[in-house]
Amino acid sequence: MPKLVIDDREVTVEDGLNLIQAAERLDIEVPHYCYHPGLSISGNCRMCLVEIEKMPRLQIACNTRVTEGMVVKTTSPKVKVAQAAVLEFLLINHPIDCPICDQAGECKLQDYYMDYGAYHSRFPLEAKVEKRKVVDLGPQVVLDQERCILCARCTRFLDEVTKTSELGIFARGDRCYIDLFPGKKLENPYSGNVVDVCPVGALTSKDFRFKARVWYLEKTESICTLCANGCNIDIYHRRGQMYRFRPRYNPEVNQYWMCDEGRLWYKELQKESRILRPLVRGEQDFAAVLWDDAVNQVAQTLTQVKEEHGANAIAGIIGAKATNEEAYLFSRLLTEHVGTELIAGLSWSPAEASHDNFLIKADKHPNTRGLQAMGLLNGGASTADVLAAAAKGAVKVLLVFAADLVPAFGSEKLDAALSHAKVIVFDTDYSGTTEYADMVLPIGTAPETDGTFTNYAGRVQRIRQAFPPPGEAKPGWEVLSQLGIKFGGTDYLSSAEIFAELANKSPASAGLTYSKLASHGVQLLGVEQSPERTMAQS
Ligand code: SF4
Ligand code: SF4
Ligand code: FES
Repeated sequence: MPKLVIDDREVTVEDGLNLIQAAERLDIEVPHYCYHPGLSISGNCRMCLVEIEKMPRLQIACNTRVTEGMVVKTTSPKVKVAQAAVLEFLLINHPIDCPICDQAGECKLQDYYMDYGAYHSRFPLEAKVEKRKVVDLGPQVVLDQERCILCARCTRFLDEVTKTSELGIFARGDRCYIDLFPGKKLENPYSGNVVDVCPVGALTSKDFRFKARVWYLEKTESICTLCANGCNIDIYHRRGQMYRFRPRYNPEVNQYWMCDEGRLWYKELQKESRILRPLVRGEQDFAAVLWDDAVNQVAQTLTQVKEEHGANAIAGIIGAKATNEEAYLFSRLLTEHVGTELIAGLSWSPAEASHDNFLIKADKHPNTRGLQAMGLLNGGASTADVLAAAAKGAVKVLLVFAADLVPAFGSEKLDAALSHAKVIVFDTDYSGTTEYADMVLPIGTAPETDGTFTNYAGRVQRIRQAFPPPGEAKPGWEVLSQLGIKFGGTDYLSSAEIFAELANKSPASAGLTYSKLASHGVQLLGVEQSPERTMAQS
């Protein structure tokens, strides 16, 4: 553990860190372009120059490892002159695009110019080297060659992370440019990450271009729910509308990256098909009802059916897109309050679901492991048992929470199984299953809900409510809590309370709380690692 001095402050850090990382421990920013912690060191931009005692010349911080007794200065007059000179050099041929550039607000050229440059340009505008603009690289990414500072982050990402090497640096000197290798397109499943690593506005997202200025957007930490990997993300949103997902660093799950499908998943979560009110099937179509009436009606139906036909005339199916908190309350409602044995989890993904050996999992649900840990997928009744009982007419009420049964079982089977039962669906969107519903209760999607998911490897991670659900929809845990109260259950004030209670049910997670899960979640000991590419199905 070397001890060194940076800007007159002592710090002890792990061996092997570079000076940018060591300075970060003291909240000292060493400006940098080409250095990215998830990529190899390139050392080409020279923006990170620092002064080191006993060294005759300035050194690049990104490629200088800490050593015992080092004395480093990041703001000395020599360093400041060098930083301004590097910026002036990098900006010589940069176009004056800032007012219309999508990177504004996140651009390291703009930010560093204000912090470390602020010089008067000595270069005539008309002498700037012109290059190609709006170059279509692939389905996700657009390139502006003039804005590029040739830091090689994008090429290193494609060489080192995806190993697809679509982009290269061509030509020499100030004519140098980034481009596709002949015959290639930037269309690997992780291509959007090059936009994140580009420190300037050279690589922009086709999806996000010209949609919103980033300083108007709020950012909420969350988890991608499109597959069982549970990549950590930030949701960028404004007034209940999402504009983009970007990966959030988690060394245990996704490092700095996410896949393109997951990146665009926010669109699916805010489609026109959202259910906005509690609905009851009338003569012809659904009719909207008040929440109180809807909850009372569900409670009365359950009580009545139990009295007339016994507890096992009531059954429940919960999908693996439900949070742990929702699954816990759904399970308590049916097993403790109602007393039925017919409750099953559903985690069905198509056989041809995309997957690879990096991040993308074939299980397209965020919480299959969570349902397994609660015994909803690998013990007790299965969905096949529930549907078989329903087909025999033994099930009078079926509660379906956050699951679409149609892709998993097909309409024919469901027509036979559900014709005798009253079907009550709790979901975010209209689906094939809501066609069978007698009642529909609208719940929030992951960005509209607090909760946790357990990823494929048994890591429990938080989702945070970025904004409330649309219309009259409510977070699922709130709906289930209100229903539980009708049967003498707890009136939970937050999903954090539910989590603390459910965590204490198992020795492996006893004492776990939302604050302990923090930003990166907790690996739950005692949950076995899923074999790669296994789909769970009950
Ligand atoms: S396009 Fe962006 S990431 Fe790639 S070399 Fe240029 S500035 Fe760097
Ligand atoms: S790998 Fe899975 S969890 Fe990660 S971003 Fe892609 S779909 Fe989302
Ligand atoms: S960040 Fe060190 S040389 Fe570019």
